[in-house]
Amino acid sequence: MDVLTQLSASRLVPVVVLDQAADADGLASALVAGGLPVAEVTFRTDAAAESIRIMADRGDVLVGAGTVITPAQVDQAVAAGARYLVSPGTSRAVIERAQEHGVPVLPGAVTATEVQAALELGLDTVKFFPAGTSGGAPAISALSAPFGGVRFVPTGGVGPKNLHEYLALPSVAAVGGSWMVPRDRVRAGDFDGVQALIADAVALAQSLRP
Ligand code: 3PG
Repeated sequence: MDVLTQLSASRLVPVVVLDQAADADGLASALVAGGLPVAEVTFRTDAAAESIRIMADRGDVLVGAGTVITPAQVDQAVAAGARYLVSPGTSRAVIERAQEHGVPVLPGAVTATEVQAALELGLDTVKFFPAGTSGGAPAISALSAPFGGVRFVPTGGVGPKNLHEYLALPSVAAVGGSWMVPRDRVRAGDFDGVQALIADAVALAQSLRP
């Protein structure tokens, strides 16, 4: 199963900010125990690359890199073992570097122009970010009319209260969000709490299956 198929099978992508790589293994164990062995580790802290390496080396978590905004970060993420890359916007430089590595990349796209730019670069799956302030599920539906083959991963402002709106759309491959892995809980070492949030999210997503 390729990586994008695995992400759509999981339906959920936890967006993670790790302040220290020492938390990466505990977090990975919580994700696995909670039933969602997937993580998008964001390049928002200096601990990102090392955290990705620790999680990737375990072999039981589908770990990708998020907030990848430069080709240099693409290189770092891939070297650390990231299996996919996520960018907040549609950057030709980031996409082309990811393609050179042969690693799937999800660029952020919320307008027809951005979706079209991603298509021109050979992609058919984009991150719809920031989802909540970019028109939410109705905007994805509207974009799906002209772009029937495109799949979206809405992220940003998604949580238990509005998850159903996004997962109901056939063009939504998966939904991303940080609500499943709150940064302060990770920092506090509350991995049981994270595991419970993950398990709740998995149960909710299961209950919303068509
Ligand atoms: C991201 O980078 O995808 C977002 O910061 C996640 O958005 P959220 O915190 O609203 O889930």
